[in-house]
Amino acid sequence: MKKIILTGDRPTGRLHIGHYVGSLKRRVELQNSGIYDKIFIMIADAQALTDNADCPEKVRQNIIEVALDYLSCGLDPEKSVLFIQSQIAELCELSFYYMNLVTVARLQRNPTVKSEIQMRNFEASIPVGFFTYPISQASDITAFKATTVPVGEDQEPMIEQTREIVRKFNAVYGETLVEPEILLPDNEACLRLPGTDGKAKMSKSLNNCIYLSDTPEDVRKKVMGMYTDPDHVRVEDPGKVEGNTVFTYLDAFSKQEHFARYLPDYASLDELKAHYKRGGLGDVKVKKFLNAVLQEELEPIRNRRKEYEKDIAGVYHILQEGCRKAQEAAGETLDEVRKAMKINYFDDMDLINEQIKRFQQ
Ligand code: TRP
Repeated sequence: MKKIILTGDRPTGRLHIGHYVGSLKRRVELQNSGIYDKIFIMIADAQALTDNADCPEKVRQNIIEVALDYLSCGLDPEKSVLFIQSQIAELCELSFYYMNLVTVARLQRNPTVKSEIQMRNFEASIPVGFFTYPISQASDITAFKATTVPVGEDQEPMIEQTREIVRKFNAVYGETLVEPEILLPDNEACLRLPGTDGKAKMSKSLNNCIYLSDTPEDVRKKVMGMYTDPDHVRVEDPGKVEGNTVFTYLDAFSKQEHFARYLPDYASLDELKAHYKRGGLGDVKVKKFLNAVLQEELEPIRNRRKEYEKDIAGVYHILQEGCRKAQEAAGETLDEVRKAMKINYFDDMDLINEQIKRFQQ
């Protein structure tokens, strides 16, 4: 069986370094590993509209931002198909059929939907489109016969729901769809990078994100203002590294070679942590180190972005080409689905002949 990746993001804002360590970096590695037959990366604008129905302009503006973020991280249109969800009408058709295979109770139990309903104060009146977005996500994945879905742990319930839909579909209509596997990030610090203020999640409204498109000076300021250990008041005080955002970021980003380059007094992150815990190591020194590490990681991304920004028409062209390829792939699956569901009336000569015979008798 072919190995196929599908994954994507909602275009509701620029992508930040949480997206980068949590998924983008991995996607580029998977892309360049050469072990996948096809890779589809989707800008999930239709899904973004399920809870932003009244902000079409925001979604529209962020399509190009996310596309630039993708390209600048090293997703390569020669190797990966970058496309926009809403342009693939086949996905809506699939969702319409899958809706017959899922109960309201099952959707209500989906933990991601549950917490998002709370977060958005949708309890009193949930938009149907939002409520059913796990079904639409199953369409995104199955339309491309994806075997592998690299996403964060918060997406686990979505993949589980997709697997159930696939099993149900195949049991009712015959073996047609492929059951996908989730691929979680491998470094624990990358599962969820906290905000610069120490809050659990990076979020635009909390103003606690470091964006991939931030300038070097933005990044430096954000790092120098980061939340550390509030009880670590004087340099001599012993400090905590657990829950200390600067160390969480170092867990996610620092490599052995960074020490030789930027902080040669320490051989490793463990040594740095030990000194911090003992006392005698100031926050500023650690933050300066983190800044150097982040700047090194972000610089090539920033440079690639600058190049693509000079050719925005070219970026739209890449997306349009991606949509064409994605539609072709989804169309093939739809043909099989319609056939399995016995709704392929006009391309099935056997069916027509059978009916001719029936009415001749
Ligand atoms: N739900 C994902 C997010 O919020 C975006 C998404 C839509 C997606 N369809 C998908 C991810 C299919 C993986 C596979 O970021």
